[in-house]
Amino acid sequence: MQTTFKGKHFISLQDWTNEEIDTLLEVSFDLKKKFAMGIPTPYLPYKTNFLMFFEQSTRTRNSMEAGIAQLGGHGNFLDTSTMQVSHGEVAKDTAIILSSYGHGIACRNCVWGVGNKYLREMAKWATVPVMSLQCDLYHPMQGIADLMTIKEKTLTTKNLKVSIIWAYATSHKKPISVPLTQALLFPRYGMDVTLAYPKGYDLPDWAIEQAKENALKYDGSFKITHNMEEAYRDADVVIPKNWGSWVNNSSDDVVDDLLESYKSWKCTEEMMAIANKNVMYMHALPADRGNEVEDSVIDGPHSIVYDEAENRLHTAKAVMTLTMGGK
Ligand code: CP
Repeated sequence: MQTTFKGKHFISLQDWTNEEIDTLLEVSFDLKKKFAMGIPTPYLPYKTNFLMFFEQSTRTRNSMEAGIAQLGGHGNFLDTSTMQVSHGEVAKDTAIILSSYGHGIACRNCVWGVGNKYLREMAKWATVPVMSLQCDLYHPMQGIADLMTIKEKTLTTKNLKVSIIWAYATSHKKPISVPLTQALLFPRYGMDVTLAYPKGYDLPDWAIEQAKENALKYDGSFKITHNMEEAYRDADVVIPKNWGSWVNNSSDDVVDDLLESYKSWKCTEEMMAIANKNVMYMHALPADRGNEVEDSVIDGPHSIVYDEAENRLHTAKAVMTLTMGGK
């Protein structure tokens, strides 16, 4: 078991080996069990994690803030519009200074073409672990919670048919970081992954190449289809979720002709009926109800979205415990 994590950055799960991810999951399950039993877990007493948000959040902010409190430490929430970064202060200066005040820096920056570079620049200068709370490319906190949820609901992830499916939404132009993270991670656990999307909603070519390499290395599989029904058919897990056409169009506009031409890409009871009879419906949330998914599906017997959201707490605590504490 890999046990040396102190100071390790958590920006992409591609930077973590399977052995490291397995330890992370073991710690997450242990923390979940102890939380259920009311056993205190003061693993990070008096430690501070700075939580910088360039965008809104419900799950990520609160799982981190509640999580660090439950570990005996303190989460310092920072709305970046109130920080000097909004006047142009650079990542280097922010990282060095926050490092000198505390024990971890966590940041959400989903600006296309900027977010991941910003986090990597902070990691270059920080003397404490830098944790991604989602960037334009990756959402590792979501990915690890999703993997935990799948593992606790299935006997084995080997040859599990998991379909990551684009869905229509109008709430905002969402990052590609959730499907990209899942496409890279799930084949590493032997899953048979199908990525389904209408033309124009591609993920970057380099990510597809890495997903295929991961599948080859870990005996999973990875394929792309532009046929929604094919992705639902016989699936064990479906993850229908919207993402923006960022790779082909960097405009911030939410609604355009391309989006409007794919209104039929919705998770319906009809689609769920062609999947495996015990299919599980997952979504990172927030869901655009009525557009991405019918209420009867997300509120129905196949939905595991609330378990998935709950696991954000346990996995966030595991990431902080291992990277900010430990040896
Ligand atoms: N899934 C997720 O990251 O949710 P929030 O945007 O609410 O943090």
